[in-house]
Amino acid sequence: MGVHDIADHPVLGLESSCDETAAAVLAPDGRILAEAVLSQQEHAPFGGVVPEIAARAHLAHLPGMVRQVLDQAGLTIADLGGVAATCGPGLIGGLIVGAGIGKGIALTAGKPFIGINHLEAHALTARLPGLAPAGSGAADFPYLLLLVSGGHCQCVAVEGVGRYRRLGGTIDDAVGEAFDKVAKMLGLPWPGGPALERLAAAGDPARLAFPRPLLGRPGCDFSFSGLKTAVAQVVAAYPPGPLPEADAADIAAGFQRAVAEVLADRVAHALAMLPGARCLVVAGGVAANASLRAAIAAATAARGVPLVAPPVRLCTDNAVMVAWAGIERLRLGLTDPLDIPCRPRWPLETVRGAPTP
Ligand code: KG4
Ligand code: ZN
Repeated sequence: MGVHDIADHPVLGLESSCDETAAAVLAPDGRILAEAVLSQQEHAPFGGVVPEIAARAHLAHLPGMVRQVLDQAGLTIADLGGVAATCGPGLIGGLIVGAGIGKGIALTAGKPFIGINHLEAHALTARLPGLAPAGSGAADFPYLLLLVSGGHCQCVAVEGVGRYRRLGGTIDDAVGEAFDKVAKMLGLPWPGGPALERLAAAGDPARLAFPRPLLGRPGCDFSFSGLKTAVAQVVAAYPPGPLPEADAADIAAGFQRAVAEVLADRVAHALAMLPGARCLVVAGGVAANASLRAAIAAATAARGVPLVAPPVRLCTDNAVMVAWAGIERLRLGLTDPLDIPCRPRWPLETVRGAPTP
């Protein structure tokens, strides 16, 4: 098979960079033929992801999930055009498991291997057919990506496959990390983001005057540690033991409002830094938060830029996005040798792209 023949075949994608184990098969046009995601529950008692446990859980579950998605798609590995697996950034043990399985399949079937940068996969998700409004050109390059998850918090100019420019990012905590830490202070279970959002719904967001870090500052960097400390000080003023329910709800609502205002402000600045942006894409688990989405939507609408918010299951970690990034790269002939390393850190700017035309 030449590059073009290969690109006419389905691609298997594998994701194992954190605590989601996932496999998916996509047709070359991006149709999802089968997908499976397992959010590892093994970490809940520890209040955070334990890397060693994550790696072992990926090893226990991923091979069976590969079998499952191939069966569901009615395919064998001989039918594939290539195998894409996340090679970084992320927890090294899990990356080695997923990439190792992917490389093994590619080697056995004699298919190309595509080592995917997890951030690139989030960045390209918006180009999956059917996500941006038809005919809008919204997912044409360039566009702006706001990636907000437990481990990432950055604004990226997406100018082509393998052509990414980081416009700003957090100087301390990721926004999801801040949600998780504040949730813990309020006595909520891990992961805290969804629980905090539910609690905030019952609260008064205006009762407590929390800081809005970096609001109005030039650029689009983020900071959440000052906000987190402000919440900790309010909580510390109560006697030990659970907070009164209504007060906890007000704190949650006030914190969420502060984050929403900061994100909207940073998005406005980022859009000014990429004047030709066709749209703003949000990705990452925090994008599941309805009030944050609403604040971001208002900021983009005010500037006449469409907002593309993939469904939550494609915003959080998944393998559909990895397979899709694989398809985009395979089309350009950007396959990788089997000795491509796994990298805990792998800045988007250093991802290999197609030569500029
Ligand atoms: O993208 P993701 O599934 O995994 C990575 O961190 O890469 O994001 C998980 C993060 C967690 O910090 C979680 O608390 C946060 O996203 N999150 C939320 C919500 N749902 C998930 N944060 C705020 N509101 C939510 N509804
Ligand atoms: Zn992610």
